[in-house]
Amino acid sequence: MPRISPETIEQVAAALNIVDVVSSYFPLKRSGTEFRALCPFHQEKTPSFYVSPAKQSFYCFGCGRGGSVFQFVQEYEQIDFPEAVRRLAHRASIPIVEDQLSAEEEEKQNLRKRLFRLHFEAADWFHRNLVRTKAGETARNYMRNRQLNIDIARQWRIGYAPSSWKAFREWGAEAGFTREELLASGLVKLRDEGNPRSEIYDRFRDRLMFPITNELGEVVAFSGRVLQPNAPGGKYINSPESLLFSKGNVLFGLEKSRRAIAQARQAVVLEGQVDLIITFAAGIENVVAPLGTALTERHAALLKRFCTEVILFFDADSAGERAAERAIEVLYGAGLQIRVGKLPPGEDPDSLIRKEGAEKFRNRISQAKDFIDYQLEQRPSLDQSVAQRVQAAHRISRFVAMISEPVLRDTTISRLASCLAISRDSVEQAVAGHKKSSAQSLMTEMTTPVITPPRHEIAALCYILMTDSLTLDWVRSQPWQPVLSGIPGTEILARILQSELRPDSPGSVAAFLAALDKAEAAILSNALSHPLYRKPIDEAIRRSYWQGFVTRELRLRRSRVESALRLSADQPEACAQAEAELKEVLRLEEMLGES
Ligand code: UTP
Ligand code: MN
Repeated sequence: MPRISPETIEQVAAALNIVDVVSSYFPLKRSGTEFRALCPFHQEKTPSFYVSPAKQSFYCFGCGRGGSVFQFVQEYEQIDFPEAVRRLAHRASIPIVEDQLSAEEEEKQNLRKRLFRLHFEAADWFHRNLVRTKAGETARNYMRNRQLNIDIARQWRIGYAPSSWKAFREWGAEAGFTREELLASGLVKLRDEGNPRSEIYDRFRDRLMFPITNELGEVVAFSGRVLQPNAPGGKYINSPESLLFSKGNVLFGLEKSRRAIAQARQAVVLEGQVDLIITFAAGIENVVAPLGTALTERHAALLKRFCTEVILFFDADSAGERAAERAIEVLYGAGLQIRVGKLPPGEDPDSLIRKEGAEKFRNRISQAKDFIDYQLEQRPSLDQSVAQRVQAAHRISRFVAMISEPVLRDTTISRLASCLAISRDSVEQAVAGHKKSSAQSLMTEMTTPVITPPRHEIAALCYILMTDSLTLDWVRSQPWQPVLSGIPGTEILARILQSELRPDSPGSVAAFLAALDKAEAAILSNALSHPLYRKPIDEAIRRSYWQGFVTRELRLRRSRVESALRLSADQPEACAQAEAELKEVLRLEEMLGES
């Protein structure tokens, strides 16, 4: 099992300054001996995110997230612990000592590396075709017509795929890439898809090529636009899904726009690549575009890392409207605020900027309406009947029910009530009606914790349980199982508690560690190497840590059950289940309160 050695982790931690690492993502302001900023992990108006150079750790007083430079990169980049160590090691130029990979894993890793190489070189080749060759002339003319100048072509490494069935394939072979690698990239296709031995040919022919990069700027795919209006195939075609590329995970432009997005705390979502490039070139840099697909949950999660608010610019046609509706659901689900920008019919940002200039488009961004207000604009006027206003409340509350951020939902409900001049209660009921449709979803809602405990808290508990026999035995004597079950991220705690582990016996600790899988081992080495724990934690604090954790989790669970009870009044089955659940929570609270 591949595992990064603790020595390497220590070395990396020692070589880096957390202040430098964090400021490479967004600016920090000095505040006494510490540094602070708006927290990148939750929505806030005044900064409560602190970075301590002395402790080499960060902490947010708003959302409770905190930890070492590793946790920061892990949270921020949404990657696992080993990957965070790898990236930081790379940054600190420290070689990684890893245990042997399985033959299969190694092969996959190697292919991934080769594919990155292939895409990197292919982007270069396409780009040279565009700027240097005779064959690229039509493409250059096309670019000129669209006001995509040479600087833009360089900056985005725009290229040209020649009008040939084999030019790319031949270049690839010459450059030393195998048939398997070319096929795995998706840049060539099999003549006969059912026959893996059949001839291969170029997927992209006579197209303007836009490299698609991941957030690190590595090319993972291409999008090609036709040059001739009546050419076969779609106007744009993208690389197929591959080992490197999944279009639901990638937002075009993000690599270049992430800084501006983080600074503005706001992302403008456009529909097209060219729209994005033109808008960016016009100085509006906080922009992203999905690749001709609806926004996915993954896209929304990606955006949530950088901003709190999203402004949608979708075409004013019905397809655009449908795309917007789907987007609303995932964006509200991710806890983002949504505003909707207006485009005149038949225009897109590219054509608008050309017609009216960047300043007017900037105004459209700042005038973009909150999505709910936008919906309210179509409300019936107040002199219409109550029934009609209630109907409007129902229509809009469908969207309000999608808002996962509690404060945002609450304020939206109030606004809706006052705009429609109906009671807050009625609006709440309408929202609840959309949210809870069946006893089934009620139950999942009730038993699935909404909040995952912060990772640093789990890490601290791991650390305490793994190093202190007395506390470990004390927790083991409690009904910890029914408390932890269902709280995401606590599986590792359960592992420790149900094991034979004895913290005072090094042999037993080693045996325990050896039996863990990769992910669990990562969590633990993470916990144990945490700089906060270079010094032992005070005896008195150890028990209160566990106690505090349990108390809070049970309180959360109780409030969920109580709200489920209120909402299930008219559903006997769900109601009975909720009552049983409440009894269980009260029982646990009583037992643990006494210990
Ligand atoms: P549009 O058809 O609105 O084109 O597609 P556009 O962006 O204005 O492109 P230009 O200005 O004509 O060059 C919007 C986006 O939808 C995806 C692309 O990502 C495109 O940028 N798309 C469109 C496809 O993936 N395939 C298509 O055939 C068309
Ligand atoms: Mn366009």
